Amino acid sequence: MIINQGPKAFMVNTVLLTNISELVTVSQSGERCKRGAGLRELNIIRDGAVATRGDEIVWVGLTSELPRNIARDADVTIDCSGKTVLPGLVDCHTHFVFGGSRENEYAMRCEGKSYSEMAEAGGGIKSSMRATRELSLEQMIEIGRLHLDQMLLLGTTTVEGKSDYGLDFDTEIKLLRAMRELDDTHPATVVPTFLGAHVVPDGVSRTKYLSVVLEEMIPYIAEHRLAEFCDVFCDEGAFTVDEARFVLREGKRFGLIPKIHTDQFASFGGCELAAEEEAISADHLDAVRQSDIDALASNDIAGVLLPGCVFFLGLNKYAPARRMIDSNLPIALATDFNPGSCNIRSLPIIMTIACSKMRMHPREAIGACTLNAAFALGLSAQIGSIEVGKRADLVLFDADNSLHIPYECGHNLVNTVIKDGRVVVRDGCKLERNKETTLGKRA
Ligand code: NIG
Ligand code: FE
Repeated sequence: MIINQGPKAFMVNTVLLTNISELVTVSQSGERCKRGAGLRELNIIRDGAVATRGDEIVWVGLTSELPRNIARDADVTIDCSGKTVLPGLVDCHTHFVFGGSRENEYAMRCEGKSYSEMAEAGGGIKSSMRATRELSLEQMIEIGRLHLDQMLLLGTTTVEGKSDYGLDFDTEIKLLRAMRELDDTHPATVVPTFLGAHVVPDGVSRTKYLSVVLEEMIPYIAEHRLAEFCDVFCDEGAFTVDEARFVLREGKRFGLIPKIHTDQFASFGGCELAAEEEAISADHLDAVRQSDIDALASNDIAGVLLPGCVFFLGLNKYAPARRMIDSNLPIALATDFNPGSCNIRSLPIIMTIACSKMRMHPREAIGACTLNAAFALGLSAQIGSIEVGKRADLVLFDADNSLHIPYECGHNLVNTVIKDGRVVVRDGCKLERNKETTLGKRA
């Protein structure tokens, strides 16, 4: 790759990518999400070019049709021969700030112990809770920053993150503050979600814990604008549909948009609740019924599939992705990165699992990690596709076509990442640790 930084390298305003072997714009029509057969139609331009100004995309098309003034005025020109360019990947479901690790549980699972047996024995979410409660705000920020660095190097430019391993007022708030701080200082965009209703911690009754969530946490989080979404774990071993309804309604009353973890282990009724409470997404859905798929589809709710979790837990029941696509449900894919059920930070690996285990086509998997993932965060007017006016979040892969991305499983093909119009990863290495790089200030 040739990077021509030009005379204005320290005041970069415009970046130009030319000769892109495969430019996957994902969409050119301003659509908010992709459904059905449309999910794999990714508007691919061969020998394409993209120009950005400030933090916006200003031109997309064939290199041969690039207007002369755009070519002349570029501060940085990158020759993308042999490269595939995608919109910055969007990870719309993670738990990326947590204390400790659970490799011992993983080893025990490999020997046959089940996820729920370990949770009942004081492991699982509660063991991460204990480790997370030990952390200072600074330590949370440091851990979160490390995980965001790793995700950025894998091509992820927007990360949703849930507070959920605190399970008490102070720690939940600290987790959300850490994510706000990371959004301000790390190149990646961080979208915080409140998931205080993850499980009931030991030593507190269900009723008492729920009243803390409803009466103390939600009002405080809303007042201090610490989260965009309110999530709830509505499944076997977590919260019932009635309890989840209270949480989502109260969150909504305070301006937090509902999301739900449901149907991971059993068909539980959480999808009906998602439809009733107008959730933006319903996540996991491994045990979903057809009537629930239809209810989500007809209410424009994104189905967020987390096949990495099924894989990592060594289970076999994957969400019925093909049926969901046939039913016109807009499906997104996410890592669900967390210390217990899915210690995977890489969206390309999730794409591989989705293709091999759920029979998604590689192009469907790409659509599900870009525009549809942005849709699951209500951000698809800004990110998720390479269209004029959208944010300049772009990833350059060392591959001459996009089918390589799920195919080269476990090998990181990311060469360059452009976030908000600034080059933040080059030759597979992150340039700096914060939002201001030598290639220009944040617009
Ligand atoms: O999305 N499903 C609920 N909880 C999280 C992580 C649980 C864990 O730490 O084991 C999830 O998988
Ligand atoms: Fe999750």
